[in-house]
Amino acid sequence: MKPKFEPNAKYQPKEFSFKSKKKIKDILANYPSNQARSAIMPLLDLAQREVAAVGAKEKKPYGGWIPRAAMDEIANIVGQPPIKVYEVATFYSMYNLAPVGKYLVQFCTTTPCWLCGSTKILEAAEAHLNIKMGESTKDGLFTLMEVECLGACVNGPMVQINDDYYEDLTPENIVSVLESLAAGKKPTVGSQTKRKGSMAITGPTSLEAEAKKAGVV
Ligand code: FES
Repeated sequence: MKPKFEPNAKYQPKEFSFKSKKKIKDILANYPSNQARSAIMPLLDLAQREVAAVGAKEKKPYGGWIPRAAMDEIANIVGQPPIKVYEVATFYSMYNLAPVGKYLVQFCTTTPCWLCGSTKILEAAEAHLNIKMGESTKDGLFTLMEVECLGACVNGPMVQINDDYYEDLTPENIVSVLESLAAGKKPTVGSQTKRKGSMAITGPTSLEAEAKKAGVV
């Protein structure tokens, strides 16, 4: 579950200003000048990424999230009351409204992933990191979150960590992924069993010759 938006929480910074004025200009240029409010979503994303970039360099790292001050700044930029930005930010799960770890691990537990064993994956991660769903590790590296279908059902069970998908997970390979990230390495993104795309686990069941020609088997 996404953490609640608490506009007056202690962790909320008093001020926020975007680092890249050029990116703001580029985003606004995508919309007619009388429809600047259409830029709310990409500006929220920009704020979250800028916070993540700063957080990644901190001694106790943190990940991307959107302070209320950033939402107020966006409202100012697009000429809307702040509530219009809060409405959007609180609706979509991709916007984090409270501090998260450097690596936000989002577990899909919707039916197809669940049938393929997502419960065991999240239990393995919880045991490895010694935290529960919704919590963050003390070193600031990881936050665990449960989410609905991420659209990679055919390669379930899967998780999204920041911008990347890790698929075909087992209780063992999710731990390897987490260990690599903790060690500052980039794990292989996508299938953790080297499955190509979303082909059948047993290999291609049709168009075998074409698959060979394309070098995917
Ligand atoms: S059910 Fe997990 S990605 Fe769709």
